[in-house]
Amino acid sequence: MVAETHVVPSSLVLPVFVREGLEEPRAISSMPGVVQHSRDSLKAAVTEAAELGLGGVMLFGIPEHKDATGSGAIDPGGVLNLAITDVVAEVGDQLTVMSDLCLDEFTDHGHCGVLTPDGRVDNDRTLEIYAEMARAQAHAGVDMVGPSGMMDGQVRVVREALDAAAHADVSILAYSAKYASAFYGPFREAVDSSLQGDRRTYQQDPANAVEGVREVLLDIEQGADIVMVKPALAYLDVIRRVRDAVDVPVAAYNISGEYAMVEAAAANGWIDREAAILETLTSIRRAGADVILTYWASEAARLLRA
Ligand code: PBG
Repeated sequence: MVAETHVVPSSLVLPVFVREGLEEPRAISSMPGVVQHSRDSLKAAVTEAAELGLGGVMLFGIPEHKDATGSGAIDPGGVLNLAITDVVAEVGDQLTVMSDLCLDEFTDHGHCGVLTPDGRVDNDRTLEIYAEMARAQAHAGVDMVGPSGMMDGQVRVVREALDAAAHADVSILAYSAKYASAFYGPFREAVDSSLQGDRRTYQQDPANAVEGVREVLLDIEQGADIVMVKPALAYLDVIRRVRDAVDVPVAAYNISGEYAMVEAAAANGWIDREAAILETLTSIRRAGADVILTYWASEAARLLRA
């Protein structure tokens, strides 16, 4: 009767991976229960997500061939763009279809942008590719793009590209306060990442919360419709600060490492898995997240229904 916080299926977004050339879904060993989908198994997963009443799905594509500029990302026949069209046809009238707008799944060096000759991430040349990627995803039919590369100015460039291409109705979920985190580890397996080194020149320092809020405010000024804090669990204080500072919806990404820790402990019989899942999601909501991206989205919706 007096609960202050509720987790509801419509506040959950399921991230899904689709890999080019797969006939059958392939397990991701560091994320038990999560798979790289084939085109067919992806359709089944999003149909289930819609039936469960989830708020949305976030699509990640893994191309067969990666290259220095991530060219698969802007190819209209690329894995992610085809998946968007598939998913929109399947469930586009039932939930929000979102797509990751970043190059790291597509580059052979694994960085979120293209590199200068001396191996640094080239912010402004990357922005030009993000604009093209936004147009390709919008053309494929996406509802909402999720720029996640933490390049400076990315939200403005994506907004302008969408508007200029007559896609003013495509909205932006901005990965605004995205920290350079060790907890992304399992995601690297999920997208077959070849990353050497780290992303500390473009993602945020885990020591800084004020800076996280500043990044969020910049993104809102540039046209973000929803702002996100990522990861979630080690950054609940940042979620709260952001929720108190802005008047747009706030999302949080309950990331791969957070998922893997609970799954590993539960597999060892060290914690009660279902209780831990619901407590995790409740805590992220209590911190102030309106929307949660979580690999448990469909399962949590089933648990809530039961
Ligand atoms: C970048 C991206 C990452 C994740 C989502 N988008 C990886 C990174 O920034 O290193 C991580 C998600 C997770 O760990 O669950 N395209």
